[in-house]
Amino acid sequence: MGLIEQLEEVLLTVDADLATVNNNAELQQKKANYLGKKGVLANVMANMRDLSIEEKKELGMRSNKVKAGLEAKFEAKRIELEDAIINAKLANETIDVTLPGVSFNNGGIHPLNQTIMELEDLYIGMGYSVAEGPEIETDENCFEKLNLPKGHPARDMQDTFYINPELLLRSQTSPVQVRTMLAEEGKPIKIICPGKVYRRDADDATHSHQFMQCEGLVLGKDITMADLKGALLEMARKMFDKDRNIRLRPSFFPFTEPSVEVDVSCGLCGGKGCSTCKGTGWIEVLGAGMVNDNVLRMSGYDPKEIQGYAFGIGVERITMLKHKIDDIRNFYTNDVRFLDQFKEVK
Ligand code: DAH
Repeated sequence: MGLIEQLEEVLLTVDADLATVNNNAELQQKKANYLGKKGVLANVMANMRDLSIEEKKELGMRSNKVKAGLEAKFEAKRIELEDAIINAKLANETIDVTLPGVSFNNGGIHPLNQTIMELEDLYIGMGYSVAEGPEIETDENCFEKLNLPKGHPARDMQDTFYINPELLLRSQTSPVQVRTMLAEEGKPIKIICPGKVYRRDADDATHSHQFMQCEGLVLGKDITMADLKGALLEMARKMFDKDRNIRLRPSFFPFTEPSVEVDVSCGLCGGKGCSTCKGTGWIEVLGAGMVNDNVLRMSGYDPKEIQGYAFGIGVERITMLKHKIDDIRNFYTNDVRFLDQFKEVK
């Protein structure tokens, strides 16, 4: 084959050769194979010394054309590769605005906290403020100053976790009454105190070693049991429904005298009697009473000047009644299938 044919041949093979190139590195390699110092083109030209002047001229012209043709092909391939990269990137970064959005699994407010928020809302609306106390309490605040001296049989009503003889995990929110009275030094008080309490109970459907109470304490001049009844009736109607009634039954608590157990009329049967209310038409929801004179005196209040009422609401109990929950352990096992039912936004 003559040198000119060899040159033309290069232009014929380069297309198929370029078709196998996938990236810029391969492209540079191929370019060197064709146009480099030891490339195909240079090889052909190296053999031209045996040609006549005329043939050299002809070959020179042809080789320039072939070189220009090759360069054009390599440049076209370079652009093709670059475009492919840009197009792939664009395809990758395309946002399909019709796709459904990513849904975040938001948490919700725990049903017990929802109950406490409702209670706070109600009682703040009636002029109460919210007080808090520590969960690790002194025996003094939790029992002694609530008229429960050591050895008193009523201490057995609450099986308590003791840390040492003087410190315990509070078994009721009533010590917040004591703390508030000591701080207010004889002045009128109107508070609720929601919070956690602890008892040495074996956990079952109705008992939990940790649960919540919401204490109430109102002290002032001429506060009577009628005020207590009003405060609790409002609570029953807010927490359950406006047709509810309450009744007070005589009971005993060391810190109140007289003491009452408070029942709410059963919402399922409307008071006629059903299995939920065990046929009585009433459901027990809390303990309350007029603050015992001893309790007032021990915390610096003169019962002749100031008196009032206290109550202790079982937060789990009213939450269970409200939502028809039959096992208290549901509140503390953190099963999202249970908790999700109480989300405001599902
Ligand atoms: N502390 C009581 C308990 O845990 C509940 C209670 C009853 C609180 C009567 C009160 C009250 O303030 O007056 O069983």
